[in-house]
Order: sequence, then structure tokens, then C-alpha cells
Amino acid sequence: MEKFSVFIKNEVANTSNSMDLKVVLTTLASCIGDIAKATHQGAIGGHLGNMGTQNIQGEVQKKLDVRSNEIFIESLSKIDSIIALVSEENEFPILVNESREEGYVIFFDPLDGSSNIDVNGIVGSIFSVYKTKRRSDNELDLLSSGSEQIAAGYSTYGPSTMLVLTVGNEVTSFTLDENLNEFLLTHPNLRITRESSEYAINSSNHRFWEPPVQKYIKECNEGSEGQRGKNFNMRWCGSMVADIHRVLMRGGIFMYPKDNKLPQKAGRLRLMYEANPMALIIERAGGKASTGRERILEIRPENYHQRTPVIMGAADEVEKIIGYYEKFDSGELEFDSPLFRERSLFVDRK
Ligand code: AHG
Ligand code: MN
Ligand code: MN
Repeated sequence: MEKFSVFIKNEVANTSNSMDLKVVLTTLASCIGDIAKATHQGAIGGHLGNMGTQNIQGEVQKKLDVRSNEIFIESLSKIDSIIALVSEENEFPILVNESREEGYVIFFDPLDGSSNIDVNGIVGSIFSVYKTKRRSDNELDLLSSGSEQIAAGYSTYGPSTMLVLTVGNEVTSFTLDENLNEFLLTHPNLRITRESSEYAINSSNHRFWEPPVQKYIKECNEGSEGQRGKNFNMRWCGSMVADIHRVLMRGGIFMYPKDNKLPQKAGRLRLMYEANPMALIIERAGGKASTGRERILEIRPENYHQRTPVIMGAADEVEKIIGYYEKFDSGELEFDSPLFRERSLFVDRK
């Protein structure tokens, strides 16, 4: 099996980027190897439980969130070609090699699904690589839309540690060989089938969803007796990396849609270090990634920690939901929920 380092060397040679990208990606893989070790040590390593602090999102930080963040920052800040690091756990970007004219910006969620840590569920890390240049006024603009990503990837610290990466045109997955301390290429060219009969969504939010999502899930749940004419399966790990990984490996659709649980938030997941990297991976694997109203990769970001609705996976299923949103927004279709009719508090037609 090909080693990650060999794959990267060949793959980066095929892109228009310099040698530096190779260093960035191999360092990210080595951070992931270190976080895997800490994660797998669990209680023995003293990594379980809360820090007693909150991050910028107002979320309780787990010890492993903080340790994983330190691992990324310690290693990535030593790389000359990197200008800035933007982490879920830090309010502001960490500027490194600030005087550079151009360089890489790395966005990352050091530990995703952290509510799973203390129950030994699957967690992972997510990252996204951009290149940036100083503008003519010498300002650095660190925010670009997801379509500008040069590379994106995530890891899962599950029964085995896996690293899924896209750089170039394909999505490739590697498995950590703990004896060699190397990632080996185990799943080349991952593809998502257009149709599927499996969905992942936090159903406890059902009453807060918008009607297009309620309609889609209702039809899935009606199974072979309903208009879909087939039974659907539901899976939810509560960790985006694990839920998206299942979609990549055996098809399906993952959703964290806009809801009215917290109307001031556009969605639950963060655009720059959760939605965009996953959207690039899903699209490169032949799937689709949308908010329901807009392609995720085309959203113009306004701040580092902004949230977005997420509907991604099998192309036919995502298109079906987009179709329901179009009909809902144009008033063309009657939707069941009285909560969303005209004069309701929840109506939000763009
Ligand atoms: P994080 O641990 O980085 O804050 O992200 C957790 C995310 C995501 O992984 C998952 O899909 C979602 O939060 C689950 O949220 P709820 O349990 O609140 O539904
Ligand atoms: Mn996360
Ligand atoms: Mn996180």
C-alpha cells in the first residue's frame, strides 16, 4: 500500500502548487497521528472531561478540544509558507510569518463531535487549505469562498484512524498503520452514488425545521408505502466527521439544516472549518452540498466563525430537497406545517 508521504509527493507534483504544499499536508497528517494517540489514550492520558472554559461559540471546551488545538498550532506555526491559522477554538486568526506576501491559510476544527469524547464515540478533525496574497493596500484577506480551497480533509479517530483528503480532482482515504506510524492509501477515488436510501439528521429538531426538510423526511419515513416507494434507514452519530464518513463509504445524505430552534443562528455547523471542507470532499466524490437555497462552496464568508445550514451527500437526494425549497420559497407548493404558513413567526422567505 502506498504511503501518504509518497502519494502527496506525486499528487502535489501534479498540481500548480509548490513543494510547500507537500510540507503543509504531511504536517497536517502528522498532527492527526498525534491527536489519534491522545484520543486513543482516553482516560489513561487524562484527556477526558471538560476544561471548565468556553470557546468563542460559547461552547464548553473539552480537554481534548484544547489539546488537539495545541497540537495543530504547535506544528503548523513552524511552517514558513503558512501566513495564518484559523481555529474553531480561537476567536481571532493566529498570524504566523505575517510579513509574507503570499502564503497558506489553514482553517481547522481540531476536534469535531466532541460530545462523543467521554462516551468513547467517534470524533475527528477537519481542515481546509487556502492560499492568500496581500492586497495592493497591503491588507491580508483571510476569507475566501469554499470553491477557492486548495485542499481539504478530515480524520476519524474510530476503530481505526482514517484520513480522507482531496487535493486535485479525487477523494482519497488513508488508514493509520500504528506500527509504522504512517498513513497508508487504502481507499482510492471514493465516489458517492447519486441515489440512496439512508439519511442522517438530528430528528429531535424536527419541530424546528423548515417545511421542505420536514416534507423530505416525512416522505423518507413513509417508506415503501409512501411516494418514495422504498424504505429508508436513519443513522446519526452526533459527529459530522463520522456521519459524513458513512455517506462517503456507503452513500446517503447528511443534514444539519436551518431551523428555528435558535433563530439568530443560520445553522449549527460552521462554514469555514466544517461545511466548506466537507462540501469540497462531497462534491469531488460526485455528491452535492447545499444550504437548501445556495451551493455551500459559493457562499461569500463574512466572518471566521459564521454558521451555515448543511445538506450534503447523494446528488439526487440533495437535488430533491433543493426542489422543495424552490417550491416553498415561491409559494408554489402547499406545505403541511401550520408553523410556517403566512403570518407565522417562522416564515422567512428570501
Ligand atoms: P464540535 O464538536 O466541533 O463543536 O462539532 C459538533 C457538531 C457536529 O459534529 C455534529 O454534527 C453536531 O455538532 C451535533 O450537534 P447536536 O448534538 O447539537 O445536534
Ligand atoms: Mn465540529
Ligand atoms: Mn470542534
